[in-house]
Parts: sequence; C-alpha cells; structure tokens
Amino acid sequence: MATSRQKPARYTITAALPYTNGPIHIGHLAGVYVPADIYSRYLKGIGADALFICGSDEHGVAISMKAKKEGITPQEVIDKYHHIIQKSFADFGIEFDHYGRTSSPTHHQTASDFFKKLYDDNAFVEETSDQLYDSEAQQFLADRYVTGTCPKCGHTEAYGDQCESCGTSLNATELINPKSTISGTTPTLKQTKHWYLPLDRYTEFLQQWILEGHKNDWKPNVYGQCKSWIDDGLKPRAVTRDLDWGIPVPVEGGAGKVLYVWFDAPIGYISATKEWAEAHQKDWNPYWKDQDTQLVHFIGKDNIVFHCIIFPSMLQAHGDFILPENVPANEFLNLEGQKLSTSKNWAVWLHEYLIDFPDQQDVLRYTLTANAPEAKDNDFTWKDFQARNNNELLAIYGNFINRVAVLTQKYYEGIVPTPGTFSEVDLEVLAEMRTYPQMIGASIERYKFKAASQELMQLARLGNKYLADEEPWKSIKTDPERTKTVLFVALQIAAALQVVSAPILPHTAQKLKTILKTPSWGWNDITDQPLLAPGHQLGEPVLLFRKIEDEEIQAQIDRLNNTKKDNLSETKKPVMPQKPACNFDTFSAIDLRVGTIIAAEKMPKADKLLVLQVQTGLDTRTIVSGIAAHFTPESLIGKRVTVLLNLEPRPLRGVVSEGMLLLTQDEQGQLVFVNPDQPGVADGAVIS
Ligand code: MF3
Ligand code: ZN
Repeated sequence: MATSRQKPARYTITAALPYTNGPIHIGHLAGVYVPADIYSRYLKGIGADALFICGSDEHGVAISMKAKKEGITPQEVIDKYHHIIQKSFADFGIEFDHYGRTSSPTHHQTASDFFKKLYDDNAFVEETSDQLYDSEAQQFLADRYVTGTCPKCGHTEAYGDQCESCGTSLNATELINPKSTISGTTPTLKQTKHWYLPLDRYTEFLQQWILEGHKNDWKPNVYGQCKSWIDDGLKPRAVTRDLDWGIPVPVEGGAGKVLYVWFDAPIGYISATKEWAEAHQKDWNPYWKDQDTQLVHFIGKDNIVFHCIIFPSMLQAHGDFILPENVPANEFLNLEGQKLSTSKNWAVWLHEYLIDFPDQQDVLRYTLTANAPEAKDNDFTWKDFQARNNNELLAIYGNFINRVAVLTQKYYEGIVPTPGTFSEVDLEVLAEMRTYPQMIGASIERYKFKAASQELMQLARLGNKYLADEEPWKSIKTDPERTKTVLFVALQIAAALQVVSAPILPHTAQKLKTILKTPSWGWNDITDQPLLAPGHQLGEPVLLFRKIEDEEIQAQIDRLNNTKKDNLSETKKPVMPQKPACNFDTFSAIDLRVGTIIAAEKMPKADKLLVLQVQTGLDTRTIVSGIAAHFTPESLIGKRVTVLLNLEPRPLRGVVSEGMLLLTQDEQGQLVFVNPDQPGVADGAVIS
C-alpha cells in the first residue's frame, strides 16, 4: 500500500524533450508521454498545483546530420519536426502546460547563464586532448561524423561513439581506418580544449541522495542503473563540443564551440517553466527552488544517466535548485517482436495511426498503458491492440455505458430516476465503486499506470456485471420500481467512471461527460453522496468505441511485412560484377555432379574445416571444406550437394581433398548449399 505522505505544495512534471529530427511513434508515447500525461491529469484532477513541462530538443549532432543528408539547414529541420511533433502530442491529448524549444531566446539565455555560473564557480575542469579533425572540411568530427572498423569485432562501418554490430560503445579515436563522413577523407588528430564536469566530485552526494535516499522508492531498473554507474567510478564528462550547431560556449576560449546537447537540453525544462510563468504572470522560481515542490522526470531508459547522474550534479553544482523526487523511467517497447527503429521505419507513427484510426486516440493510449514497458521491455502487437479494443474498451466499458444511457433514454426520457429502497447488492456495489478512486489514485501516485488502467477496466466490469445480474430490462415489466433503483445505481457507476477515466482516457471521459451532461467533477467529488441526482437530464447517447475488424488489423500487419521486405532488399550486399567471358570448352572442362554427404567430422585443431565423405556415384571420396563455422557435422549427414569433381586434389592439413562442394551465401551472410529455392538467397548470389 502507498504510505500516505503529506502531499507537496506543488509538482513540476517533466517529459523528455524529443529530438526534432523525426516524427514520434508509439514507443515515445508508451515510454514517456502517456504516463507523464496520466500523472499530470490525475494530479490536476485531485486539485494539486501541477505544472507539466516539455519541449523540443533542437541541438545535437543528429539534427545537423539530418540537415546535411537532406540538403537543408538545421533550422529548417527543427522547424519542420517541432510542428509535426507538437501536433501529434495535441492530437493524442498529451496536455502540456508549456511546450518550449531549445532554440528559443529564453533557453539560450538560461543555458548560457547556467554554464557561466558553473564556470565562474570553478565547477568545471579544462582539458586539452587530441580529437579527430577533418582538414578538408576544416572541422572537428563529432562521433557520428566518423566511421571506421570496430576494434572489437571488425565491423567496417562502426560509428565514432558505438559499433552497431557488436554494441560496444567506442571513442572515435579507437576506430581503425577512420573516415570522415563529411569529406570521405582520413581525419587527423588535432588538439582541442574542452570543459568537463568532474562527476567524480559528486560521487558522495550521489551515493547519499540516490543509493541511500531512494533505495526503496525508485524503480529497480532506475536504481540499478544508477548504482552501476556510481559503483563503476564516475569520470569527468565533457560538456562542450567543437560544432557549429548549438548554444555558443559563453566564456573566453569558447569561440567555435557549443554546449554539449545533453548539457543544454535538460536546462530546457527550466527555460520552458520560465516561458510558461511569463505567459501566465506567475513566478517560475518555486517550481524549481522550493523544497516543497516535487520534481518528477518522465523518461525512457536510455536517458537514465543524464537525468539521475549528470543533470542532478549540474543542479547541485549550481546550488539553488531542487533535485528530482523520482525518475520513473520505462523500459523499451518493441513492435511485433522487433526493436522500434526510426531509420528502418519499424514503427507505428502517430500521424499515420490517426489516418487509419481517426478519433481513436484513446484506444492507443489504453493499449500502450495496459501493456506498458514498466518493469521490462514489452511488445506492441496489432492483435493485442485489437483485443484490447474489442474485448475490453468496447465489450466492457463501452457496452456498460451504452446500456445505461440507452435504457435511461428509453424508460425515463434521459432523466435520472428516483431510486427506491437499495438492496444489499446495490449497497455493496455502491460501496465497492467508492473504493476505486482511491485505489486508482494510489496506483498512479506510485507510477503504476498499467495497474491503474486495469483497475479502471475493473470498475467498468463491476457496472457491466451489475446490469447483467439485475436485468433492469426484465424488471421493467414485472417491477418497474426496481428498474429505477438499478438504473440509478448503474448511473452512479457511469459517473464515477467518467471521473476516474479522465487521466488515462481523456477523449472518452469528455464524450462521457457529454452523454451524462455532467459538470467538471474532480476526483474528490466521489463521496457517499450520489454524483447524479434524481431528476438530472442526461445528454444524447453516443458510441464511445467501435469494433476494429480483422481486415484493418491485417492491413497494418501487411504494411509491416512490406517494410520488412524493403529493409531486406536495402541491406542487400552489392552484387558481384560479371567475370570475363569464358568459352564453352573451358566450361565443359568442369565436372559438376550431384552427391550425398555420408560422413562428417571436425578437422582436429582447425576451427573452420570439416572432413567430409561424399558419395559421388563414381566413388566415395574425401572432401575438406571450410564450413565448420556454419554447419555442425551431424547436420550434414545425408545432405544432397553439388560437387566439383575434377578440381585438382590438394592436401589440407595433411588430408587430401578430392573435390569441392558448391555453396552460396544468404542475405544474412550465412553459408548455404546451392539451392536457389532456399528462402533468403538473392538473385546474383555467387556460387563458389
Ligand atoms: N532528446 C533526448 C532523447 O530523445 C531527450 C532529452 S531529455 C532532456 O533521447 F532532458 F535532455 F531534455
Ligand atoms: Zn563491433
């Protein structure tokens, strides 16, 4: 159970500022924005002073790279996506009090002042180091502008900060054969000076504040990541970069340098608060400086170190700011079993969802909440989406509301009837109903949004079951007074549902408000007194949800399958060009036969070689083949193969090989025996 702490004077709720280098998808919504919005709406619903802040993260290399790739300016990139993203948020009812941008003058000033203060207080250390420099483009190369061979796995297209093949995080200077992606030339090393935030100085503070102070209230995934960062030993972290897109370093020696994007972006929460305060004639200070403010950061798990270690150290260095009370980071959401990927277009984009499912924002909000990646990575599937809609929202919630509204119209012209004497069941149901707001509220306060969504559905189930058991459509003929009581009770449940639905299903709650024609109730209005008094005139019944058909789901799955195919053909290796012409005599000199492998074993002390006995029709002969990394000996017995019979015998590790097996590679680079019908073998695959 939640310990009932004293509530703080106010809340500052932040949601990670999305990068404006692409639109947003369901992963963003599930991981950050839906839970943050639920939390904020709930707090407002209980009458708390809660400020919900977000904005666009408009600096960083990802944005300048996107601009280079599309041949436009970074400003054009951020303008485009700022508006697309902001619209998606508005469409899905993510209701920020202010949505800022890190390109705004207020932000530039705030971030610049922040840096300056830390600089003046000697909170930074300066260090000169060798960085990769492109002398043709005359610029230092940020990590993503360098590719080369991974020193760990040999992948030839590793980036300067990470090898995407083996996942190792790298330093650009570690790459073998580095190449600048700007000019294609080989970069040189050049000295450059940067400012570092010495995180090691904050070790003790972080140990006390997180490891001791938040052991029990932070999510285990968040706490665990923090602990491992702290235990591994914190190192100074550069907070400036040699780039031309960003906030200029405002101190001597800073020419040509900008603030590291992860230094400026979180300060964006503060700048956005200032902008909000300015627009509403409020004071921004208490939201960031009053100890009685509860600061909560909603983020995805890849942002944990920045929000739990680096930004708090910055705030601490600055001296007058509060620290986050909690950072309820989520794990990742996958899509149909695969990692969401913007570059591979493996995503459900919000703006595209609304084309196929107009006016069904709450179905997605509900599905993403009911299936939220709260404690572990989770999978979004279209089938689950359909089931959540058809079996829960439509069959339980929608059905209950529809029955109550339609029956009240039909029997009483939409006027709430006066109840007779309540039966024991009625009293029990009403009492149970009254436990829900507290229960759902407690779940939300503990960041258990998934649980809250199921409790909400449970309340709808209570109403549905009550109607099914009491059958007011039958008693109307035998005991019309009873029907009045039953519908009165059911209407109270519907009204309670409207209140507690508002954070998770805001669009639905709004429709329900129209159906019931109710005022704007808050959480605290659900008391012993009925919400809907006898004599209250309801509005017109409208349908809350519609059935989602199999064909609609199939269309989405087909779209994803097409994306999969496109990706496969894009990642296809270049096809080897044709060799010089050979005459027929040369060809007919080659003796190719069908054969069967009848025995196979590993060549001792040779990792790659297998010694095979192959039945050729003429004889059984020994063939040594370099395929041990691709096949186990057992898997080969009985395999039919194409054999090049008259290749000159040659000894391999003392075993004479009398021929060669023909193989090719599939699109994953896996060796396969020649069989053009095999899936994954592309046209043009070389047989050798
Ligand atoms: N843009 C970052 C991302 O998408 C998040 C920035 S959060 C902030 O991962 F705190 F820096 F603003
Ligand atoms: Zn690698």
